[in-house]
Amino acid sequence: MSLLEVSGVSKTFTTGRGLLGRRPPRPPAVQDIDFTLEKGECLAVVGESGAGKSTLGRIVLRLIEPDTGKITFDGIDVRAASYREMRRLRRRMQMIFQDPYSSLDPRMSIAEAVAEPLLVHTDLDRAARLRRGAELLDRVGIGRRYLARYPSELSGGQLQRVAIARALTLNPSLIVCDEPVAALDVSVRAQVLNLLRDLQEELGLSYLFVSHDLALVEVIADRVLVMASGRIVEQGDVTQIFRSPTHEYTQRLLSAIPVPVPRDATGRRMVAGDLDPSTRPMEEASQ
Ligand SMILES: Nc1ncnc2c1ncn2[C@@H]1O[C@H](COP(=O)(O)OP(=O)(O)OP(=O)(O)O)[C@@H](O)[C@H]1O
Ligand SMILES: [Mg+2]
Repeated sequence: MSLLEVSGVSKTFTTGRGLLGRRPPRPPAVQDIDFTLEKGECLAVVGESGAGKSTLGRIVLRLIEPDTGKITFDGIDVRAASYREMRRLRRRMQMIFQDPYSSLDPRMSIAEAVAEPLLVHTDLDRAARLRRGAELLDRVGIGRRYLARYPSELSGGQLQRVAIARALTLNPSLIVCDEPVAALDVSVRAQVLNLLRDLQEELGLSYLFVSHDLALVEVIADRVLVMASGRIVEQGDVTQIFRSPTHEYTQRLLSAIPVPVPRDATGRRMVAGDLDPSTRPMEEASQ
């Protein structure tokens, strides 16, 4: 059984009423979506702006209710889950957003922000919550001296590390990462991406990794879903899709990547100093 099974999922957003009370017709944001995600796997969702990537991520976490379709998480029918079941499910499915500034409450200290999910979901006392929060902040590379600081005092990269720690607080199995490094300085993207990759390995996490940056997807993903206008136009193993994309749309997306991602001696895809294609090592390109 897959950790996540999505079948026949569609969603059309309705707009406000137009002239004479008619709703202007809109195309579906996502349509007939079928895929599975295995435990420990990183599945990337790629496609141009407006393709429906974020909508799909939010539907999986039931932050948006789809019009049709079925979503099964660890054997549980998510759309049929009761309030109590949904509370339990929420602990196991987390999300990391693109903009770490808006995902953290500016009035909460870093320590409180990371410990907060434990207040909502567990009986742990304050000292135990803060201890767990401090451990997680250590793990994501945020030193103890930041515990009492507030979001406005941290850099974008540091804040995204805090958001990652907060997402890990309740030991989730699935994290939907929606463009998690797109808003960060190019110089810190690789560090945050490496952190996500290390955490995935260490904790056996599954990622639904939304990105429009294929260079980055090649580094982190096992499999890829390619979306265009709300539909999946292609899906498969990352190496296979990158080597021989069958769909014209995927070929077009891929043609924007100038240099193959370098690999280390074990074949693991390496992250160069950063992921800006213009500064990646050029050896492979010149061969
Ligand atoms: N809350 C909403 N209300 C109405 N329409 C929405 C809403 N969210 C998304 N849409 C529409 O659904 C479509 C898909 O949007 P979505 O945000 O999922 O795309 P995306 O692939 O994440 O794009 P981007 O790369 O720009 O983030 C778009 O046409 C968008 O305008
Ligand atoms: Mg989006």
